[in-house]
Amino acid sequence: MAWAPEQRKAEPQPRDHRACRGARGRWRRQQRKWGAEVVRWEKRKWADLPPITKNFYVESKATSSLSKVQVDLWRKENFDVMCDDLKDGKKRPIPNPTCTFQDAFQPYPELIRNIKKAGFQKPMPIQSQAWPIILQGIDLIGVAQTGTGKTLAYLMPGFIHLNNQPIPREERNGPGMLVLTPTRELALQVEAECSKYSYKGLKSICIYGAGNREQQIQDLTKGIDIIIATPGRLNDLQMNNLVNLRSITYLVLDEADKMLDLGFEHQIMKILLDVRPDRQTCNHCMVTENSMIVSMLWRTLKLEK
Ligand SMILES: Nc1ncnc2c1ncn2[C@@H]1O[C@H](COP(=O)(O)OP(=O)(O)OP(=O)(O)O)[C@@H](O)[C@H]1O
Ligand SMILES: [Mg+2]
Repeated sequence: MAWAPEQRKAEPQPRDHRACRGARGRWRRQQRKWGAEVVRWEKRKWADLPPITKNFYVESKATSSLSKVQVDLWRKENFDVMCDDLKDGKKRPIPNPTCTFQDAFQPYPELIRNIKKAGFQKPMPIQSQAWPIILQGIDLIGVAQTGTGKTLAYLMPGFIHLNNQPIPREERNGPGMLVLTPTRELALQVEAECSKYSYKGLKSICIYGAGNREQQIQDLTKGIDIIIATPGRLNDLQMNNLVNLRSITYLVLDEADKMLDLGFEHQIMKILLDVRPDRQTCNHCMVTENSMIVSMLWRTLKLEK
C-alpha cells in the first residue's frame, strides 16, 4: 500500500509520544530560564568594572599616505603578509602597515628609545602589520613562523595599553596584562623580553608549574602589572583565590595552538571566566604558528566583540 502522509498525520498520537513532547517543551522553557539567569549573573558579576580605554593609535602621515598599490607591494615583499577580518558582517578595512617604529609609536618616544637601544633597525613584518591593529583595540590572531618577532608584536601595544588606562596603575588593585604560555621556558623568555624593554617601570612576574609556589604567591602581592603564566599553575592560584584576574584588561595567548595541543583548553576556559569579557586591546592577541587552528580558536574563545 502506498504511504499517504495526510493519513499518517490524522492518526491519533500515542500517549507516551505526547508526554514526550510536553517534556521537551518544559526542557526548552527551563533552558531559556537558565540562559536568562546566566545573563543576569554575568551582568551582576561585572557590574562594578572600572572604565577601559582601547584605542591608542595615531596614524602617521607616512602610513596614511601609502596607496593601496604600495601596501599590497609591501605585503608581498614582507613574507607575503595576508590579513582577513574574521568578524561576522561587513568587513572592516585593514590598517596600513607601520613601516618604521616612528610610524607605529609616534606619541610614545620613550618606547621608541627602548626599542632602538636593542639595536633594531625596523619592525619585523608581523609587528608592522599587527601594531596598528592591536593599538586600535581590535582582537588579533597572529600567525607567523618561529623567530619572527611575535613577542614584541603584542608586548609593545600592551605596554601602551597598561600605561594609559583611565584608572592609574597603582589604583587598579591587580595586574593589567596576562600572557598565557604553554611552557615554563617560553614564560621565562617572555619575561626576559618584558624586562629588556621595561617601560614606565611596569613590573612583571612569571608563574609556572615547577616554580616556588610560595614565592610566586608573595610576588603577586607586590604591585605587579604583568603576569606571564602557564595555565596550570595560574589556574591553581585562581581556584585558591590567590590571584586577582578581574583587573586584567589585556590578554595574550602566546602559542595558543600549542596550549590547545597540550590539553590546556579546560584551564584556559576557567581562567577566562574571571577575566572581564570586554577585556581590552586586541584583547586577545593570539599568536599561533598553525593556521589550521585559527578558526577553531576564534570559535572557542569567542573573540568577536
Ligand atoms: N624588529 C626587530 N628587529 C630585529 N630583531 C627583532 C625585532 N623584533 C624582535 N627581534 C628579535 O627577534 C628574536 C625572535 O623574536 P621572538 O622571540 O619574539 O620571535 P617569535 O616569533 O615569538 O618566535 P618563537 O615562535 O620562537 O617564539 C628575538 O631575539 C627578538 O629580540
Ligand atoms: Mg614567541
